Amino acid sequence: MTHHGFCIWLTGLPSAGKTTIAKALTPKLKARGWNVELLDGDEVRTGLSADLGFDRKAREMHAARVTFVAKVLARNGVIPIVALISPYTSSRAKARQEIGRFVEVYVTTPLSVCEERDVKGLYKKARAGTIKEMTGIDDPYEMPEHPDITVETIEHNPDQSADYILLELEKKGWLPSASPSGHSGAPVGAKASAV
Ligand SMILES: Nc1ncnc2c1ncn2[C@@H]1O[C@H](COP(=O)(O)OP(=O)(O)OP(=O)(O)O)[C@@H](O)[C@H]1O
Ligand SMILES: [Mg+2]
Repeated sequence: MTHHGFCIWLTGLPSAGKTTIAKALTPKLKARGWNVELLDGDEVRTGLSADLGFDRKAREMHAARVTFVAKVLARNGVIPIVALISPYTSSRAKARQEIGRFVEVYVTTPLSVCEERDVKGLYKKARAGTIKEMTGIDDPYEMPEHPDITVETIEHNPDQSADYILLELEKKGWLPSASPSGHSGAPVGAKASAV
């Protein structure tokens, strides 16, 4: 029997910290015996959505494709970690509906801090008007109203955020508690994957 995985969906503004937190989380889940696949916005765009732009319809389509992949992974015992701006409430709601075992993690960082971080230099370009449809500047970001988990990156470092997410998953009963003895708490069959 294949153990059922679940999807951890990180949403937030550009440069909020989604990729950074996802990368901190991945080895922690692997150490507990899970198969993890990071579906990171940029990489997935290249592989799955190179044909799509950044208007609403395209962003919704992109999120829908990522949702499909995450669903297939989760039902085969993998934990897909999605790190995607996913600015529209409707896309995230569809992901939840389709995947079922799904936690929405709101990576929240003030826009001013994201703009200072500007990891890819896109805020600068958007302010200069050389790129359009930049989330947070001239494209909307619909804040999650009822995220399952919220991580505040100006209060907690990436490692703390990752640990907090693990703790919340333990509270939900989706992740066995890591026992003090150091036992991984890996579920039987967690490594089974048919994809
Ligand atoms: N507490 C924190 N949590 C997460 N990232 C932080 C934190 N403090 C500083 N940072 C830095 O903020 C930046 C976040 O960039 P990251 O690429 O993770 O953002 P992102 O949300 O994936 O953006 P994008 O949507 O553009 O891919 C990194 O340079 C990271 O080191
Ligand atoms: Mg990223």
